[in-house]
Amino acid sequence: MKVLIILYSGGQAAQEQPKLLGTTENKLGMYDWLKKLGHEVIVTDDKEGPGSEFQKHIVDAEILITTPFHPGYLTADLMDKAKKLKLCVTAGVGSDHIDLNAANKHKITVAEVSGSNVVSVAEQVLMTMLVLVRNYTPAHEQIVAHKWNVAQVARDAYDLEGKVVGTIGCGRIGYRVLQRLEPFNCKELLWFDYTDLPADAAKAIKATRVATLDELYARCDVITVNCPLHESTRGMVNADAIKKMKKGVWIVNTARGAICDRMAIADGLKSGHIAGYGGDVWDVQPAPADHPWRDMRGPQGNGNAMTAHYSGTTLDAQERYAAGTKEIVDNYLNGKPQNPANVIVADGQYATHAYGQRK
Ligand code: NAI
Repeated sequence: MKVLIILYSGGQAAQEQPKLLGTTENKLGMYDWLKKLGHEVIVTDDKEGPGSEFQKHIVDAEILITTPFHPGYLTADLMDKAKKLKLCVTAGVGSDHIDLNAANKHKITVAEVSGSNVVSVAEQVLMTMLVLVRNYTPAHEQIVAHKWNVAQVARDAYDLEGKVVGTIGCGRIGYRVLQRLEPFNCKELLWFDYTDLPADAAKAIKATRVATLDELYARCDVITVNCPLHESTRGMVNADAIKKMKKGVWIVNTARGAICDRMAIADGLKSGHIAGYGGDVWDVQPAPADHPWRDMRGPQGNGNAMTAHYSGTTLDAQERYAAGTKEIVDNYLNGKPQNPANVIVADGQYATHAYGQRK
């Protein structure tokens, strides 16, 4: 069978660092294994447009493996052409690059390596909050520019202690963010999710569930987005939502870029209504050179804490999601059941509750 693997190219870094498993060079550590089993394996980073390797090989691939870091966007149109496709595996967490409703129509299974990089992301969320709230980036840029002006950076620097911090989505990552925030003595920790936490998990964190997103928007100094991208979260953080937030809000989004409206965020930062926006996810990846989030700034030239999509692809995370991807493929090849926690859609329906409230 044909296995199509879409990964980012690691170039020299991947040659020097074999632990960069999620690259075309190191092939998730799966290439030799699959070849030995007699399968045809295509590994490529060429994923855009009708002439791409992705579109060329998807028509007769049985298994597609992609990462959210360099997503092969499997649209409904492409899926119509993928007559042999049975299994899509996300090497990582977050399968929104696959049209899940189309996967259900064609009874294609979509699975991801749940939990594989959630600690990696939760740590990045904490870091990004601190970078924004403490106005770290301009303070650092000043130093490498051989300058010294304490007042210029202190004028926008605050402590996380005493702030109200809330997460949209309190699944694996959102929950870990709240756990990690506890020692910072925030004024309040809030969460909004349509899914409740198990009673013992809710008890273990000193955080309050709010009933509506509007309440979270109105009360928070810092908002972090930790829900998947699906029909009802696409563009959710738009100009209307931002109006409901406090002036000077900091927003951290490591979930998916398209959950936040790109111009509403850039305009909000420019006007000062948003004091800072940071994260590593973009509404299309790789982000185009002219994406407004690359060089958007607040009135003092600060407030931008964007990076390339890497929070969930630390070397530790890569080891976990490469192993998990191999396990999912091995299960499929040997007719073994998948770990239910990894299954997003199967047999024509959503197996997870996390991609929107459905009947
Ligand atoms: P999870 O499935 O454990 O939790 C997601 C939670 O979001 C669920 O509790 C669900 O009920 C909730 N949710 C869904 N829609 C919501 C809505 N409209 N409002 C409020 N809550 C909503 O997923 P996990 O592991 O916490 O990951 C969350 C997302 O983070 C992934 O889907 C992915 O998009 C992103 N992610 C980003 C990474 C990165 O490298 N930047 C790496 C891993 C995940």
